[in-house]
Amino acid sequence: MLLLWHGLAVAVVQICIFSENWVFAKNINFYNVRPPLDPTPFPNSFKCFTCENAEDNYNCNRWAEDKWCPQNTQYCLTVHHFTSHGSSISITKKCASKSECHFVGCHRSLGSEHTECRSCCEGMICNVELPTNHTNAVFAVMHAQRTSGCSTHTLHLPVLVWVFLLPLL
Ligand SMILES: *[C@@H]1O[C@H](CO)[C@@H](O)[C@H](O)[C@H]1NC(C)=O
Repeated sequence: MLLLWHGLAVAVVQICIFSENWVFAKNINFYNVRPPLDPTPFPNSFKCFTCENAEDNYNCNRWAEDKWCPQNTQYCLTVHHFTSHGSSISITKKCASKSECHFVGCHRSLGSEHTECRSCCEGMICNVELPTNHTNAVFAVMHAQRTSGCSTHTLHLPVLVWVFLLPLL
């Protein structure tokens, strides 16, 4: 009996790990990207997705440089140009100082049909998404931690353990 429950528990954990790897292989979830644990160059250092004039968000994030932001920056900036139909023309993401984040929001480029939206955020590689309207073209300061598939499972681990132990009591 004990062996059976143990086997079941192992299977559940493996399914969890396997399914996450599977999702990762199929389509990169940029929210799950964790930078390698290299030493931080200074306190409160962080990274941003960094690209210049990428054609779409996938190609920006996919080939983003992985380097620490300079010490005179505090935020990640995203500048998104798109047509009136909403298709992206160019995306630039970088580390930014407070003054570079002074202007966020969207505006029509003068003399063209293009719109430019700018957003800033605070935190490790926080500039995943593109700003597309006044709702998301904002200056977002530190918010709740990102969660991934299995870390939510981890929260339920005590419950899981309890369920498996209950029949043994
Ligand atoms: C802004 O864009 C987001 C994402 O594309 C969308 O979900 C939301 O409904 C938009 N908000 C407005 C006010 O258009």
